[in-house]
Formats: sequence, C-alpha cells, structure tokens
Amino acid sequence: MSIFFNFACGLECSESDYLWDNHLLERIKNMLLVTTIIKPHKFEDVKGALIKSGVAGMTISEVKGFGRQKGHTETYRGSEYEVDVLPKIKIEILSSDEYVESIIETIQASANTEKIGDGKIYIQKLEECIRIRTGEKGKEAI
Ligand SMILES: Nc1ncnc2c1ncn2[C@@H]1O[C@H](COP(=O)(O)OP(=O)(O)OP(=O)(O)O)[C@@H](O)[C@H]1O
Ligand SMILES: [Mg+2]
Repeated sequence: MSIFFNFACGLECSESDYLWDNHLLERIKNMLLVTTIIKPHKFEDVKGALIKSGVAGMTISEVKGFGRQKGHTETYRGSEYEVDVLPKIKIEILSSDEYVESIIETIQASANTEKIGDGKIYIQKLEECIRIRTGEKGKEAI
C-alpha cells in the first residue's frame, strides 16, 4: 500500500494500512549530516550541550578558515587584501531528520558569543550510513 494510495483512499483505509505506511515513512526518513564550524574556546560548551541533548556520536576536527571579515577582528590588523586564516573546530554529527532541529538549536545556543566569527551550521543529505561492526545500514547504523 503506497503512501499515495492511502492519501487517495482517505477514510476507506484500514488500521493495518496506516501501520504499514508508518513503517514505510519511518524507513524513508532522511538521514542528515550536520556540520558546524565553531570557535575553539566554545568547543567544551557545545560538546557538553550536544551530549546532554542526546547526540550519540560526533567527529571533531581542528580546521582553519575565514568568513566575511577575512579573519580580521574588530581591530584592523592587515592590509586590504590580507586574509587571516583563524583556527576553528569542525563538528560533524550524523542524525535522522527528526532530531536535526534540536541539534541546530543546541549548537546555536551554546556556540553563540554574539561576536563576529561565531561560525556556521550546515546540513547535507546523507546517501547511506553503515555500521562497520554489524553491517547495519541507514538510520539503524547511526
Ligand atoms: N562561505 C564559507 N564557506 C566555507 N566556510 C566558511 C564560509 N564562511 C565561513 N566559513 C567557515 O566558518 C568560520 C567562521 O566564519 P564566520 O562566523 O566568520 O562567518 P561570517 O559569515 O563571516 O559570519 P560573521 O559575520 O558572524 O563573522 C570560518 O573561519 C570558516 O572556517
Ligand atoms: Mg566572520
């Protein structure tokens, strides 16, 4: 029984049809990769808040980068074309889409200093995820 058919048949559908569709919906829910670039001194706060919110795992990298101010702080430090590449922390989290809103809110609340350079959060759709030990795939593997 397809979702479309259930939609089309409206109240004619049996309870088992709905259960089947719920199962299907559960399987096709998107898996997402949430990446955030934050200031290094906010890392412990952000990590703690994410763990508290129930995040199961994360990958952390030390990276360098610049944004719109080209790495310059409020105090002008370089010539017009000079770019300062500043150290940042990158956190990657695999998640199914129902948790992503909460992850975004948690990062935003814990990483924000209200100053320039606080960083970014960006989301990508994930094709597949596989748990190496068991071979589980998809959301089961997250
Ligand atoms: N367009 C971008 N592409 C890739 N990475 C980026 C981009 N913009 C920012 N970053 C990464 O995010 C880090 C922090 O960027 P930053 O917070 O300064 O962005 P911004 O857009 O300049 O915002 P703000 O005005 O608040 O400073 C950068 O050091 C870089 O690693
Ligand atoms: Mg900036």
